[in-house]
Amino acid sequence: MHQVFPFRIVWQYQKRKGCIAVSKLMIEGSHCLEGELTVHGAKNSALPVLSATLLCDGESHIHNCPRLSDVDASVEILRYLGCRVVREGDTVSVNTDTLCRCDIPDQLMREMRSSIVFLGAVASRMGKAKLSFPGGCELGPRPIDLHLKALRQMGMVINEFHGYLDCSVPARLKGTSIALSFPSVGATENIILAAALAEGTTVVNNAAREPEICDLCGFLNACGARIFGAGEGRIVIEGVEKLTGTEHHVIPDRIAATTFMTAAAVTGGDLLLRRVVPDHLSQVIPMFQEAGCRLRWDDANLRIQAPQRLRAVKSVRTMPYPGFPTDAQAPMMAMTTVSDGISIFVENIFESRYKHVGELCRLGANIKVEGRVAIVEGVPRLFGASVEAPDLRGGAALIVAGLAADGLTEVSGLRHVDRGYEAIEKSLNQIGAKVSRI
Ligand code: EPZ
Repeated sequence: MHQVFPFRIVWQYQKRKGCIAVSKLMIEGSHCLEGELTVHGAKNSALPVLSATLLCDGESHIHNCPRLSDVDASVEILRYLGCRVVREGDTVSVNTDTLCRCDIPDQLMREMRSSIVFLGAVASRMGKAKLSFPGGCELGPRPIDLHLKALRQMGMVINEFHGYLDCSVPARLKGTSIALSFPSVGATENIILAAALAEGTTVVNNAAREPEICDLCGFLNACGARIFGAGEGRIVIEGVEKLTGTEHHVIPDRIAATTFMTAAAVTGGDLLLRRVVPDHLSQVIPMFQEAGCRLRWDDANLRIQAPQRLRAVKSVRTMPYPGFPTDAQAPMMAMTTVSDGISIFVENIFESRYKHVGELCRLGANIKVEGRVAIVEGVPRLFGASVEAPDLRGGAALIVAGLAADGLTEVSGLRHVDRGYEAIEKSLNQIGAKVSRI
């Protein structure tokens, strides 16, 4: 019989023992989530936009910038490069008048894998750039061959040695035609950042079409860039002489929105999400409907009402946008662990994005993985346990599963989760969860 200690007793025990760790969530499951939440700004838009401020003279004010450790890391990189950066509430202001460096130290690069998105901007603005090779991460090897091939085509000289990239631009980057073998989000962003101030026109074929690409191009065009076709497979960037900083509002985070929807779904909840873009959830909404949830939305809000018992989502195949987002795979899988029937996942984007499966099984889920395929057979219920977040979205999945589980679930490794979710326990407690960070 599973011994379930009352939440309060465990909390007092933890406090008395003084074994308060710094990055664990204690989740008391089976509370129905009801109420409303405002979704924070998109991490994967704020990061490239902050990098883009380097290209601009003067001051940029980036509003709706989420409070995340990855954003903090980007701010540290901008400050290290010499920019004056100030955060006031949800606004990060960047002044590049004192920009003076072109190298990014190893520890800052390692803090955030996606710091590779600074390469195009630094090299374009400063004429050279030196940064360490961003290591692989929890999702498997994270190659940057597409980034480097495209930047070399634009005239950047890139020497790779001892884990470092030493880049220089002899004269000025030159526009050219680039065909990406895969619609890489990061590579598309780096090319756009390098092409905005290049000489001549750059055409990117098979470009990534994610909403975050459109947000980046919207910011750059507001600064004086000439970028056409963002959101389509072919983007044209006409290089200009100069960009001037301006104001920008980061789009809402579609992955955070999806994550909160799965949390409401697994707890039989009724949740109103404010500040969402339903268009960005076009592949996600039908899956919640297939699972038996009732969804209603207008142009900025979405309400999800969950059934007492969810139905399985038969097939979830991750694809480049506008396909089902790989970042939503783990939270969606957590939802299907307690849905009636069999759900089949195919992870087509990353080589190793099932590290959360073992931890979900510790909570009582029934999941089998064969290569890129994961087969989830819904179980009547999950049981609280101690689990460890393997990566950002895997951590979110464990939190969602903990909300559904009977009893107490302890999720450690929160440093991963804090990269992409703003004070997640505050958001969840706001809608009826019982979650505490110890
Ligand atoms: C961005 O990563 C996001 N990160 C990821 O979100 C997201 O999962 C991914 O796009 C796909 O949508 C940010 O925007 C900061 P890719 P990125 O380049 O740019 C291969 C999260 O949880 N590839 O589109 O690194 C690569 O190995 C994070 O918020 C190459 O082979 O993704 C992967 O298999 C995780 N060579 C696939 O392409 C390259 O040069 C997609 O990568 C580049 C990528």
